[in-house]
Amino acid sequence: MPCTVVVGAQWGDEGKGKIVDALSAEADAVARYQGGPNAGHSVIYQGQTIVLHLIPSGILQPGRRCLIGNGVVVDLAKLREEADHLESLGIDVRGRLGVSPAAHLILPYHLAADRAAEIGPGAIGTTGRGIGFAYRDKASRVGLRLGDLFDPEDFRERAARNLRRLQCEFPESEDLQKMTVDGMLDGLRELAAWVEPLQADVSAELHDLLARGRRVLLEGAQGTMLDLDHGTYPFVTSSPASAAGAPLGVGLGPRVVDRVIGVAKAYATRVGNGPFPTEMPEQEAAHLREAGEEYGATTGRPRRCGWLDLPALRYAARINGLDQLVITKLDVLDGFEEIRVAEEYELSGRGVASFPSSARALEACRPRWKTFPGWRAPTSEVRKWEDLPEAARAYLEWIEKKVSVRITTVSVGAAREAEIRRDTNAR
Ligand code: GDP
Ligand code: IMO
Ligand code: MG
Repeated sequence: MPCTVVVGAQWGDEGKGKIVDALSAEADAVARYQGGPNAGHSVIYQGQTIVLHLIPSGILQPGRRCLIGNGVVVDLAKLREEADHLESLGIDVRGRLGVSPAAHLILPYHLAADRAAEIGPGAIGTTGRGIGFAYRDKASRVGLRLGDLFDPEDFRERAARNLRRLQCEFPESEDLQKMTVDGMLDGLRELAAWVEPLQADVSAELHDLLARGRRVLLEGAQGTMLDLDHGTYPFVTSSPASAAGAPLGVGLGPRVVDRVIGVAKAYATRVGNGPFPTEMPEQEAAHLREAGEEYGATTGRPRRCGWLDLPALRYAARINGLDQLVITKLDVLDGFEEIRVAEEYELSGRGVASFPSSARALEACRPRWKTFPGWRAPTSEVRKWEDLPEAARAYLEWIEKKVSVRITTVSVGAAREAEIRRDTNAR
């Protein structure tokens, strides 16, 4: 697998963290390429749940180099907090973490603007981590990058300009109105000193590793349906969450990627607003939410729950060029009498041939359901494909046939070992 991308094939929270942690055992370096601390990747480590927001999930495997690429937006306070927590557990972070100086910073005014913009109509239901405003500054060419911290005069001038602009835009935001550039810089000084030695030429490092035949994992955050270009716009995040964003976000050419693994749950969830064609009525959703512990890893919000959405999954296979599928949380469906899947969408009684590109069009689509009998048997101890209940295998085989992507791994629990690798040589 010299260069593998792991990408969310749904609306985020598919279990990417668990899968990246497992794959990291066989990788030399793991890099994040987009998003920021809006991500919450949970990994069970020595019996304890660790939630990673900015640091790649490879950090829990000893010795792996972990990198944060140019495409990520970094909140230094959050990064420091995360690193300190891991170090308090005896995990070496500072010796292994590298951050691109070209990564844009999330600054306190981005957080305040995110909060202010989410009040009233048009709210996206963001994680409140300042993501959209940090990427907006990047695209407007007024953003401040990590490397800019070390030119304090220029940093101060540009930060002051950015703060003034947001104060004019959100006169009602008390947080923004009382914010001062000096206060902000005071808060950043120590963090800048902390991060300075962690700067790394992520592109050059990864390029060199690959040139020496080493193995690199690129870890996606969010999911395809939240991708800025290809997701359910405007109910998306502000970065290229799909696989094409991976080489861009770490400074490599697209041809280095030789494998794209899509991670999808055996059902579907979504956090925040926006269309969700297979969403269940709340009573049913509540049952699945409890069974799957579907609460946001970053915000604690209850996740919206629904059945597997095949048109969306097929779309994700195309957008990402998926080579392999990993299906997670199969065990969560163990107790269900029947399992439903949206096989297609319909609109005014007619089938919908191509995946709608607008959120409003998707909102109008209705699923055409297919129902499978549940297996009503525990799968969490199963480690071999052949040992899965027949009904579970039938469900999975039907999915891979419809999506035309082979399911290579099935996850049946949150712990590292709770997985079924179908083709032992696949990795
Ligand atoms: P990510 O954002 O894609 O990394 O996913 P999250 O960590 O936000 O959410 C996935 C949740 O499901 C986490 O709490 C994981 O520990 C848990 N999880 C992952 N795989 C499985 C699985 O196969 N079965 C069960 N029951 N839980 C899982
Ligand atoms: P991981 O990496 C699920 C959602 C938010 C909101 C939208 C925009 O853990 O899968 P943002 O804060 O990015 O501006 O919010 O995107 N969202 C996620 N949903 N998992 C995530 O990350 C998410 N990151 C952002 O809920 O709907
Ligand atoms: Mg998550």
